[in-house]
Amino acid sequence: MSEQEYKVRVEHLTKYFGDLHVLDDVSFNIKKGEFLCVVGPTGCGKTTFLNLLTRIYMPTKGELYIDGEPADPKKHSLAVVFQEPSSMPWLTVEQNLRFGLEIKKLPKNEIDRRVENIIKLLGLEEFRNRYPHQLSVSTAQRIIIGRAFALQPDLLLMDEPYGQMDIKLRFYLEDEVIRLWKEIGTTVVFITHNIEEAVYLAERILILTNKPAHIKEEVQVDLPRPRDVTAPDFIAIRNHVTEQIKWW
Ligand SMILES: Nc1ncnc2c1ncn2[C@@H]1O[C@H](COP(=O)(O)OP(=O)(O)O)[C@@H](O)[C@H]1O
Ligand SMILES: [Mg+2]
Repeated sequence: MSEQEYKVRVEHLTKYFGDLHVLDDVSFNIKKGEFLCVVGPTGCGKTTFLNLLTRIYMPTKGELYIDGEPADPKKHSLAVVFQEPSSMPWLTVEQNLRFGLEIKKLPKNEIDRRVENIIKLLGLEEFRNRYPHQLSVSTAQRIIIGRAFALQPDLLLMDEPYGQMDIKLRFYLEDEVIRLWKEIGTTVVFITHNIEEAVYLAERILILTNKPAHIKEEVQVDLPRPRDVTAPDFIAIRNHVTEQIKWW
């Protein structure tokens, strides 16, 4: 596969925090438009990987490339949904959704259209004039997800975004991220510790070991969509990933 077909290339990525060795010579590629899930034990370095991709941290060794250039959040169109809700407390829900689009200087009618679309999509009508502190954690997280979706980024990075949600909302938002991915052709990196969620979403699952983390296995998931979590093929893959991730 030629270089242009990769959205992200990770080459010999190594990260230490002082003496703590977190990532150990990790190399892999992500194809343009791919939906990749990353699973691994708690503390193995999943969030650290995203923080390296967005340059919150710099690698100790190795490099990350987006579209063939060293990753640069100022240059590349990416959006991140963090584990913890992180909306701006002084802005209402609607203003939070508009914020990133206004920074991008999109035309007002385009901002209106996207924001209305997201409010409808995520069922936020009743919350549009509220402030983040007036919302439950899961609703606040929906705002963050909405903001990322509205940006229609080339690269969408999600760090256990549905971890705190009730199961019904989680199932709904899993289908929404798939819909968005199909609609705008974005490349998605979705971190989760929920193996069923990874098998439901991913085209490919990257399984990381305990730290210092390296890639234990890559699993291709070629099941038709929408996926049936009770189908024997689905369960077989889920069981396989579970076996690989066991570390006790
Ligand atoms: N800024 C930091 N300084 C020191 N240690 C860190 C820092 N960020 C993460 N770590 C440590 O690196 C390891 C990996 O953390 P993290 O990437 O958050 O794991 P995961 O997201 O896979 O649960 C953990 O042991 C964590 O305590
Ligand atoms: Mg994490």
